[in-house]
Amino acid sequence: MVLGKLKIDKKMNITNICCIGAGYVGGPTMAVIAQKCPHIKVSVVDLNEDRIAKWNDQNVDNIPVYEPGLGAIVAESRGRNLFFTTEVDRAIDEAQLIFISVNTPTKTYGSGKGMAADLKYIELCARQIARVSKNDKIVVEKSTLPVRTAEAIKNILDNTGNGVQFQILSNPEFLAEGTAVEDLLSPDRVLIGGDTSIEGQNAIKALVDVYANWVPKERILTTNVWSSELSKLTANAFLAQRVSSINSVSELCEKTGANVSEVAKAIGMDSRIGSKFLKASVGFGGSCFQKDILNLVYISKSFGLHEVADYWEQVIIMNDHQKRRFSKNIVTTLYNTIADKKITFLGWAFKKDTNDTRESAAIYVANDLINEQAKIALFDPKVSYKQALSDLNYLETRTSPENEKCLTVLDDPYEACKNAHAIAILTEWDEFKNYDWQKIYDSMLKPAFIFDGRNVLDSPKMKEIGFIYQSIGS
Ligand code: UDX
Ligand code: UDX
Repeated sequence: MVLGKLKIDKKMNITNICCIGAGYVGGPTMAVIAQKCPHIKVSVVDLNEDRIAKWNDQNVDNIPVYEPGLGAIVAESRGRNLFFTTEVDRAIDEAQLIFISVNTPTKTYGSGKGMAADLKYIELCARQIARVSKNDKIVVEKSTLPVRTAEAIKNILDNTGNGVQFQILSNPEFLAEGTAVEDLLSPDRVLIGGDTSIEGQNAIKALVDVYANWVPKERILTTNVWSSELSKLTANAFLAQRVSSINSVSELCEKTGANVSEVAKAIGMDSRIGSKFLKASVGFGGSCFQKDILNLVYISKSFGLHEVADYWEQVIIMNDHQKRRFSKNIVTTLYNTIADKKITFLGWAFKKDTNDTRESAAIYVANDLINEQAKIALFDPKVSYKQALSDLNYLETRTSPENEKCLTVLDDPYEACKNAHAIAILTEWDEFKNYDWQKIYDSMLKPAFIFDGRNVLDSPKMKEIGFIYQSIGS
C-alpha cells in the first residue's frame, strides 16, 4: 500500500503538450487548450507541410479549417504558447502528454474494406512516439477509434519503445464542425477513459487537471478505456439514427400529405424525445457518422452479433436512400431528362459554417446527376473548385477530365444560377435565405425549379415568385 500511496501522490503537472494531426479536430482543440491554459506549451504537428504553413499564415482568415471564432483564438495564442510545426520528433520528445489526432478513414482495401477503420496512421504515430520518447509519457487517443485500439497502441509502445513508461488514455472529441469553438469552450461533457491501475488513474488525473482550467469538474467524466472508446462511436450512431429516423418519416410525409417540420416539432416537444437532430435533410454527411457506424457494424459482426450489426447498418442504408431519392426526384421532375441541363448547386459542405466536405450528400447527388449527363454549376461560400472536383474524383465513377467537363464552380451565386433549369440546395448556409430570389428567378430558364434539400427557403414566398418549389418531407 505504501508503494501505491507514493504513486498516487506523484502529481503530474502538465506543462508541455504535443498534438499529432493539425486537422478539424486537432487544430481547434489545441487552440482552445492553449487559450485556456497559458502556462502550457502546446505544439501541433502534422506531416503535411502545406497545412502547417496555412496554420501559421499571418492572416488568420487563411488558416486551413474554417470555424466561426477560431481565427481570433488562434491569433491570441499563436507564438505565445501555441505552435504549429512540422518538427514532429522534437515536439514528441519535449511533451509530457501527446494527443493523437490523425485521421482514421474507412479501409479501402483488404479485410474489412469499406467498413473497418484504417489504423495505418495511428500505428505509424505509435511507432514514432516509441522511437523518439526518452521519458515517461501519457498518450491520448483523440481520434475516433474502434474499441480496443488503446490496447494495440499500448502493445506497440511497450514492445518497441526505449523502456520508458506509457499510459494510454481515450479522450474522444465530441465537438461538431461549424460550432467547434463553442463546443470546446463549453462542452456538454469531457470524457476521459484510462487504465484502472494507479498509474492509469494518475494519468487520468493529469488530463482532468488540464480541462479543469475551464470546464466545470462535474462535466468531466472518467471511465475505463473501453467505455470511453465505445461511447464515442455510439454517441455518433445515436445522433445519426435520429437523422435517419426523421428522414424516413419525411418520405412518408410526402406520400400522406403530412409535413415533416410539423411532425418534428410535435414529437420534439416531448421532453423524452427532445427537439435536436430532427431536421429532415438530403442526408447526413461529415467525417464521422458513416465511418463510426460502419465501425460499430464491423465490430458487431466480428463478435458474431449479426442482429446488432443489421440494426445499425440500417441507419446507413436509410441515409443512402435519402440521397438517391433526392437526385431521382430531380430527374423525374425535370421531365425524366437532365442531359446537358444546367443544374445549380447551392452548397457543397456537409453542413453550414464549415469548409469540410467529407461524405457530404452533395457529392453523391452530383455524382448521380452527372451520370444523367447534367451540367453542375456550384456555389458554396467556403468550398473551392479544387476541393469539389477532388471529392467527385474520389468516388472513382469517372475520370477527372470527365468530371471537369460536368462541373463548374462560381464565386457569385447569381452567376451560378443564371440560365439554370433548376437549383438544388445541398447545404443550409444562412446567406441563402437572404438572396434576391426574384432576381434569381428572372435569370433562370422557365419553368424554374428549386429542390430544397435543407428546407431553408420560405415555401409560400418561392411559389409566389413563380418557382416550382419542392422541399424535403412535405
Ligand atoms: C478527426 C479524428 O481524428 C477522426 O478520428 C474523426 O473521426 C474525425 O475527426 P480530422 O481532424 O477531422 O479527424 O481529420 P483531418 O482534418 O484529416 O486531420 C488529420 C491530420 O493528421 C491531417 O492534417 C494529416 O496530415 C495529419 N496526419 C495524418 C499526420 O500528421 N500524420 C499521419 O501519420 C497521418
Ligand atoms: C458529429 C457529432 O455531432 C459530434 O459530436 C462528433 O464529435 C463528430 O460528429 P459533425 O459531423 O461535425 O459532428 O456534424 P453534425 O452537426 O453532427 O452533423 C452531421 C450531419 O448530420 C450533417 O450533414 C448535418 O447536416 C446532418 N444533420 C444534422 C441533419 O441532416 N439533420 C439534423 O437534424 C442534424
